[in-house]
Amino acid sequence: MSLPPLAPYPALRLRRLRQADWIRRLVRESVLTPADLIWSMVVHEGEGEVPVASMPGFSRLSVKQCAAAAVEARKLGVPAIAIFPHIDGAKKDAAGSLAADPNGLISQAVKAMKDAAPEVGIMCDVALDPFTDHGHDGIIENGQIANDATIERLVEQALVQARAGCDILAPSDMMDGRCAALRTALEAEGLQDAMIMSYAAKYASAFYGPYRDAIGSGKLGTAGPADKKTYQMDPANTEEALREVALDIAEGADMVMVKPGMPYLDIVSRVVEAFDMPTFAFQVSGEYAMIMAAAQNGWIDEERAILESLGAFKRAGAAGIITYFAPRAARMLGG
Ligand code: PBG
Repeated sequence: MSLPPLAPYPALRLRRLRQADWIRRLVRESVLTPADLIWSMVVHEGEGEVPVASMPGFSRLSVKQCAAAAVEARKLGVPAIAIFPHIDGAKKDAAGSLAADPNGLISQAVKAMKDAAPEVGIMCDVALDPFTDHGHDGIIENGQIANDATIERLVEQALVQARAGCDILAPSDMMDGRCAALRTALEAEGLQDAMIMSYAAKYASAFYGPYRDAIGSGKLGTAGPADKKTYQMDPANTEEALREVALDIAEGADMVMVKPGMPYLDIVSRVVEAFDMPTFAFQVSGEYAMIMAAAQNGWIDEERAILESLGAFKRAGAAGIITYFAPRAARMLGG
């Protein structure tokens, strides 16, 4: 698109449409509403809430509090909650056995939330990292993260989650063949209505740091590699992200996700343009922490930064955003 030169058009004043709130609202090209948000939440096994130091203003919640939060989500018009578990370190093992425990923390939380507010969608991560003592998303064989051996446990985990009432299964380990395996198992078990939102383009990112604090998954490298670069994507790549998304759609994903969010808006936009699929962005823990840290220092306006950061995803074409700010943003948006 090329604009005419200003000189022959002295009346070309783009500021005319910015002069008052009413006209700015009329010509606005994208809108953020509470209906765009998925509330990212961490549940723990104890009572009451436990603040997460690296995420000011964010706490792990008890099962009971998660149920109350689901009621709050309904009231605020937030359509769904993504729930992540904080598991007691003593209960973890190398194989992430507890991931598929039908009476485990995630099952309890999902059931409690569905009982309290059945109208609110619940999404669960299909991944082993909250349950492994080494913090990796896969089983380790000969010092390597095993792709195929891990699938079996993930399928068990997903079936447990779906049977507990989880609506959206979100395979998040960025390894191969997840969507196909889950889709096949769900169909075979009569769970064909369970949706899959694939973490299709998820990068090996520094911005997940506070999340590992939030779910209590320790420092990587005790067993296996010191990072997740053999399964999560290289932050330098775009074309590979498109291949990942194409594959997950072919394998049966209903929705796709890009993660992290703000540093990867170009990927969100490319994916939306290329596939026309419901595409979500995950505003991750590090993004939350950066906004809160700067705000607490008085360096940025907290509320404006929250809404601007979330609005950017809508401008980029995202269907919605998974965010720790969901309840606050929904309240600011009048939810
Ligand atoms: C685990 C998972 C991670 C996040 C969501 N699911 C961490 C990771 O991949 O290491 C990150 C969420 C966040 O940082 O807010 N598979």
